Amino acid sequence: MTTDQTLAAIVEQLSLKDSPVVHVDEVGGSDEAGTGLASAPFKTSVRAVAVVEALPADKQAGCKIVVKKGGETEYKEISGAALKKAKKLHEGNKKKAAKLAEKQLAAEKQAQNKQEEEVRRLEESKKIKLEQDPSLLAPIKSKLRDVPTYLDKRVVVQAWVKSRRDQGKDMMFLVLRDGTGYLQCVLTGKLCHTYDALTLTLESTVTVYGTVNQLPEGKTAAGNVELVVDYWEVIGKAPSGEDAYSSLFNTESNPDVLRRLRHLVLRGDTASSVLKVRSRTMKAFRDHFDSLQWYEVNPPCLVQTQVEGGATLFSLNYYGQEAYLTQSSQLYLETCLASLGSVYTITESFRAEKSHTRRHLSEYSHCEAEIPFITFNEMLDIIENMIKDVVGRLWNEPETRRMLIELNLRKNDEANDETKAAQIVGRNFADIKALIDQPFLRMKYVDAIKWLNEHGVKREEDGQDFEYGDDIPEKPERYMTDCINKPILLTHFPRSIKAFYMQPADPTSIEDYEKYKCDPPTESVDLLVPGVGEIVGGSMRLWNKDALLEAFKREGLNAEAYYWYLDQSRYGAMPHGGFGLGIERFLAWITNRYTVRDVCLYPRFTECCQP
Ligand code: 4AD
Repeated sequence: MTTDQTLAAIVEQLSLKDSPVVHVDEVGGSDEAGTGLASAPFKTSVRAVAVVEALPADKQAGCKIVVKKGGETEYKEISGAALKKAKKLHEGNKKKAAKLAEKQLAAEKQAQNKQEEEVRRLEESKKIKLEQDPSLLAPIKSKLRDVPTYLDKRVVVQAWVKSRRDQGKDMMFLVLRDGTGYLQCVLTGKLCHTYDALTLTLESTVTVYGTVNQLPEGKTAAGNVELVVDYWEVIGKAPSGEDAYSSLFNTESNPDVLRRLRHLVLRGDTASSVLKVRSRTMKAFRDHFDSLQWYEVNPPCLVQTQVEGGATLFSLNYYGQEAYLTQSSQLYLETCLASLGSVYTITESFRAEKSHTRRHLSEYSHCEAEIPFITFNEMLDIIENMIKDVVGRLWNEPETRRMLIELNLRKNDEANDETKAAQIVGRNFADIKALIDQPFLRMKYVDAIKWLNEHGVKREEDGQDFEYGDDIPEKPERYMTDCINKPILLTHFPRSIKAFYMQPADPTSIEDYEKYKCDPPTESVDLLVPGVGEIVGGSMRLWNKDALLEAFKREGLNAEAYYWYLDQSRYGAMPHGGFGLGIERFLAWITNRYTVRDVCLYPRFTECCQP
């Protein structure tokens, strides 16, 4: 019931009496719930006065207000002074209420006027048509990154509206984005009055003509320039209202929402910088291998042999035969050594990983290389030099360096899968670069086991010390790497925890070899980096045919399916080795992202195959 309805009901009830009596109980009454009857008294005389005033004139004359004060048991008629005071207060309340109502009315009117004015303005705006000024010079078509090179020239650009800021009705600032850069545009007068200007939404596409001006002193904008627009038009308008780009998500959105909208999240500064750094990284790896004059090869992804164990194979029906998505191109690279010498590939690898970790994907970009006639130590040098050279190449490109510095400073805020507490904090990329430039630590597996035990790190399954032969899981491995805080080339893993193809280590290189020979250390290596853990896995390969056949038998692999691989050990065998680097893990490390999912265009992981 409204206040008016309540008052009307009270008045109706009181009017039934010839001489109504309005009750006020200053302790037990209530102005909100009371009716003025003895059974439901008011709390204040002001309320009683308001009710009496609302009674019909003939009832008012005979109406009495009775009051029970605190500590009293009986109602007494209100005194003259108290009645006068209550009436005064009531008058004051009435004035206040009237003023409030007046204000509300004015505000409603103002809002209505504004709305009408808006509708009128929109209608009027439809009549405003922009035209190109034929006396102006023909524009130079430019991408946003090149605009600053056309100072004082007339250019035309086509791009997405990243932001808009209106300054009054006659000035509008747009920041455009086209993937190559950003550009601030200034629109004035008629240019801001058209229907398109009034309804322009973020992420709409536009064509803009104007003159490139040096930015006024004290202002900041991309490239230190702004475009003073003389003509513009919309190409495709993006939705407004609840479908507007800015309403869809923000940095606080649920990770599932961000994942589902990944195609739109990609337009954000962080995601687009990560993808640009990714592009430069792929090139840097290729340039690195090219500088060594190694050939790139393109092995198939559909295969019928496994490389890294059956547990992570994705199988599929290949014209009625069982086939798999490749786990690694290593074995095919090995078949290229005799014809091409050292080779590399950057190809997708697939792992049916059920684990929901921050560094596992079901599909990832795998950079793998294979080198003939090398020793294990030479291979370790090759891995270390590759990392240093690739990071150096990225660092030497000013634009990439700028993005790396910015990304490293920025805490993870997009597409973060973990709780906010798990977010990575900003760091200085120059420190990481300095770390990479230092010699990498070389550490044997047995020493890592010792380190874990000396630092009280226990096995998760039984809380006991680690033992020789244990796989070092992700968490302890990362803990050790973070504590040591340098890249570590961790070597000589026992055969039982590695793939079938690894060459046993030279016994003379291992202290107390006798202790370990039942599960011999191999010439294997994982490169571990702070914050991420393993980013490279590699080894020297078994190259003796009998040793290979024995390994197949031990692992339960059908040697016949590997006839082409075994032929490498028959037709000119040689010591050789190679490695694989997960591009996403490398990127998560150098861009300071919490999870490898944030450095993929569209990550593939357990239960996620869309978009
Ligand atoms: O250690 P891995 O399994 O080694 C191999 O596949 C070898 N055949 C490579 C070779 O010697 N040619 O994988 C190599 C690297 C890992 O260090 C890691 O960076 C990455 O591949 N990697 C993954 N990245 C993302 N998601 C996964 N599920 C990954 N599994 C491995």
